Amino acid sequence: MKKTIIVFLISSLAYAVQAAEDKPENTLGLSDSVSVLLKAEMNEIKKGMESLVFAMASGNWKQIQETGHRIKHSYIMKNKLTESQKHELHAKLPAQFREIDKKFHYYAGMLSHVAEERDIELVNFYFAKMNESCMHCHSKFVTNRFEGFRQGNKHEQHDH
Ligand code: HEC
Repeated sequence: MKKTIIVFLISSLAYAVQAAEDKPENTLGLSDSVSVLLKAEMNEIKKGMESLVFAMASGNWKQIQETGHRIKHSYIMKNKLTESQKHELHAKLPAQFREIDKKFHYYAGMLSHVAEERDIELVNFYFAKMNESCMHCHSKFVTNRFEGFRQGNKHEQHDH
């Protein structure tokens, strides 16, 4: 009887440890309240990117321009952050994160600008740069969530 209880305890402990490991953690160590705002912003950006695919395919310059502009200024966070959350971001976001984020917003601005010029090649170029920024940032800082980036490049692995 005792033995059964011990086995039960050990297996539930193992289960608890496993559950804790499975829980996606935030590699940047942001608090939940900041993370909620960041995720809201990310989901807005995702919607914008998705809508751009057809706006581009159909030559809808106005929509591309507006979407680029909106993403450039998509600081849901900035507007909603409390002072202490701002301090938190300042303390926790690595320089490289800020660098990628800055470029991403720059590319969104450029997308908007070249859409105004109706330059489809440059629109494509800046859209690709924006997409590259998502991958760059996520593969560096969000691999807990986007596990595909943990696996490494097969080409590189086969090179040696
Ligand atoms: C400078 C860094 C950075 C860039 C650039 C970036 N992201 Fe993210 N993204 C994050 C971080 C950090 C998280 C995780 C947030 C968290 O869990 O607290 C995230 C999470 C997400 C999520 C999941 C949100 C959720 O509800 O859990 C989506 C969707 C997303 N990003 C889409 C995008 C798309 C699309 C792009 C490019 C157009 C992009 N992101 C560019 C940093 C970035």
